[in-house]
Amino acid sequence: MPEAKSNADALLKSVMDNKTPESYSPGLEGVVAAKSKLCSIDGAAGKLYYMGYPIEEVVNGSATYEEVAYLFWHGRLPNVKELEAFKDEFSKLRTLPQQVMDFIKLLPHTCHPMDALRTIVSLLAAFDHNPERSPEANLNRAIALTVRFPTIVAAFHRLRQNQTPVEPDPKLSHAANFLYMLFGEKPDDTTAKVMDVAMVLHLDHEMNASTFSSLVTASTLSDMYSAISAGVGTLKGPLHGGANEAVLKMLLEIGDPARVETYVDDALAKKKKIMGFGHRMYKAYDPRARLLKEYARRASEKTKASRLFQITERIEEVMIQKKGKQGIFPNVDLYSGIIYHQMGIPTDIFTPIFAIARVAGWTAHVLEYWQENRLFRPNALYIGPAARKFPPLAQR
Ligand SMILES: CC(C)(COP(=O)(O)OP(=O)(O)OC[C@H]1O[C@@H](n2cnc3c(N)ncnc32)[C@H](O)[C@@H]1OP(=O)(O)O)[C@@H](O)C(=O)NCCC(=O)NCCS
Repeated sequence: MPEAKSNADALLKSVMDNKTPESYSPGLEGVVAAKSKLCSIDGAAGKLYYMGYPIEEVVNGSATYEEVAYLFWHGRLPNVKELEAFKDEFSKLRTLPQQVMDFIKLLPHTCHPMDALRTIVSLLAAFDHNPERSPEANLNRAIALTVRFPTIVAAFHRLRQNQTPVEPDPKLSHAANFLYMLFGEKPDDTTAKVMDVAMVLHLDHEMNASTFSSLVTASTLSDMYSAISAGVGTLKGPLHGGANEAVLKMLLEIGDPARVETYVDDALAKKKKIMGFGHRMYKAYDPRARLLKEYARRASEKTKASRLFQITERIEEVMIQKKGKQGIFPNVDLYSGIIYHQMGIPTDIFTPIFAIARVAGWTAHVLEYWQENRLFRPNALYIGPAARKFPPLAQR
């Protein structure tokens, strides 16, 4: 017993000794918070790998969202037969319980779609009657949640416009079916392919803020729905997934490539951030932005979005000139908005599309973390008053 006490004392002392200004890392920058086999980033070189596969090869090799989600959940790529069976399973789960649809109808039409999504993810927990918490049961939850994200977003979008939700089409891919449920029309192959690429590029990104918040929640041995609701809430912020919405607002506000330089100078002088630039991990061009830029260029050539593309290219040029030396380059959110905009998708659906893609990543990380779970419980550097006497109410 005395030995156990001295071990505990030693542990406590090491924690207290570590609470120094030197060990404090604001925003946990540089802190390694978990081990993972799923995704890695070489920020200096601007490289991203999904389980060792370079993102350029994944995208240019025409991997579909379903294929990459399978990779993240099973730790290996599927063969033709496995992929067919998986897609079949995937598409069958798209329909939401009727009571959940009824609940979506009750949401105010003014509600942000990210608030709607977060609320409905949480509600889905109430309709999961399976007490089983095994890895298999949790994998099934991961798959069902991922499959249902597009149904939730599309249903809410249609209902807020007083339109009837569109029944999912099991013959369509995950990306094509989302566009079909959103607009009530089947997308052409090119549009469906571009949406699929955007979803593959957003599927995972190592220990980003929303993945981390999902893991913090999961680490208490709470449940998959709580973990994923936390992820959705975290993604919403403009420093994270909300940036794609902010980028399009900025482009529309600028309105003309000739006004870009003045806009950027003015914003930087006021210490304002230019949305779609900068990244905690990348100090080089974000490889996802490089890939999306080409899709945005092609999509813009034939549409009215070409002016927005010109403005974006000009912002990129000006920002790299002014901020490139500081390691601030385009990130994934710079070009995604133009792509969604030219598809006719409203701006407030941009971040939900990010969530629709990222949920496979969140759930894969949660499943992986639960294999060797440890409660997240960091420390704070106390900077308040020293220990002092508590004054009774009458003496204050
Ligand atoms: C993503 C982001 C939060 C990461 O930043 P971070 O690692 O926390 O770094 P900081 O916010 O502390 O920024 C470090 C420096 O770069 C500057 N900076 C970073 N991003 C910038 C941007 N987009 N525009 C202008 N300056 C920027 C900061 O002003 C700061 O400058 P300072 O040292 O002179 O004060 C940040 O780059 C940002 O806010 N970008 C805009 C939002 C966005 O596009 N988010 C999507 C990310 S995928």
